Amino acid sequence: MTDFDALVAAAREARERAIAPYSGFRVGAALSTVDGRIFTGCNVENASYGLTVCAERVALLKALSEGAREFTAIVVVADTDDPTPPCGPCRQLLWEYCGDIPVTLANLHTVKAHHTCKELLPFPFDGRLL
Ligand code: THU
Repeated sequence: MTDFDALVAAAREARERAIAPYSGFRVGAALSTVDGRIFTGCNVENASYGLTVCAERVALLKALSEGAREFTAIVVVADTDDPTPPCGPCRQLLWEYCGDIPVTLANLHTVKAHHTCKELLPFPFDGRLL
């Protein structure tokens, strides 16, 4: 299995742990680091709805809280024919903490699309402007 295949597999596995009783929309994400680690996340919903955290942010915050600072790629998996792209807040955080990494969108069977953070957030607000 290549590193990339392992990342896709990790995102699919993370999706199995999604807590999505309200939307029924289960998402998994896997984020790789320069030193070869993989951090995974699933979406975590709650009764307030609004406090839901997306799979991408769970993966990123787990990684950051474990000390990871340099990232190489993220894979997002949902059980849909159309690719599921990161929402706006996730794009903002991925850009700020991961830079212009590849963002791969996959479903349970195949990889659907390849993007980059910059492509998904072409005119970002970030620390350079503060
Ligand atoms: N969701 C993610 O986890 N990542 C995405 O890229 C899109 C949306 C979640 C949030 C919510 O739990 C459910 O999918 C429906 O929006």
